[in-house]
Amino acid sequence: MSTFDVDGFVEECRTARLDHSPQLAVRDVVGRAVSNPGSLEAAFGPAAGWRIEKLYNDAEMTIMHFVWPPGVDLFPHEHKMWSTVGIYGGIEDNTLYRRDGEGVVVSGHRRGEVGDVLLLGVDGIHSVQNPTRQWTAAIHVYGSDFFDHPRLQWDKETGEPEPFDLANAKRELEATEARGGPDA
Ligand SMILES: [Fe+2]
Repeated sequence: MSTFDVDGFVEECRTARLDHSPQLAVRDVVGRAVSNPGSLEAAFGPAAGWRIEKLYNDAEMTIMHFVWPPGVDLFPHEHKMWSTVGIYGGIEDNTLYRRDGEGVVVSGHRRGEVGDVLLLGVDGIHSVQNPTRQWTAAIHVYGSDFFDHPRLQWDKETGEPEPFDLANAKRELEATEARGGPDA
């Protein structure tokens, strides 16, 4: 069993982003990585406990490792940068939205399973659900600086827009993990 090489993956992504269509080139790199989910598990360990880990970050690209707990239902948010999400554990359901005045309305649904790569465009708005009792594990590559890029999220109850704050996402993951899954 090979072990996923984080440094090698980062280098491949950095090369891919120089392509004339960087998101599609990165998709291919991510697709190759998640075609061998066992090697990612070997590198990151079994999914147990939520994780938001930065693997690489500069002004033009961010690479993250995410592990979502069972039952997670993250609020709608925009990225304002392209994203490429490769799933190597569990399921990630996406609800897609379009803007409607200050708010957002649902425009579609998409499910990502192990080995899938989900793309979201610069204008994409989505929320993320894990309706299963399994952890969701994924590698996300973003086409800009994920940590320094003002953007919006929308409150799940009121629908009101507010500035995106990663601390909210972390609290949501913590609370979901503490609840212990979709049936609790
Ligand atoms: Fe997102």
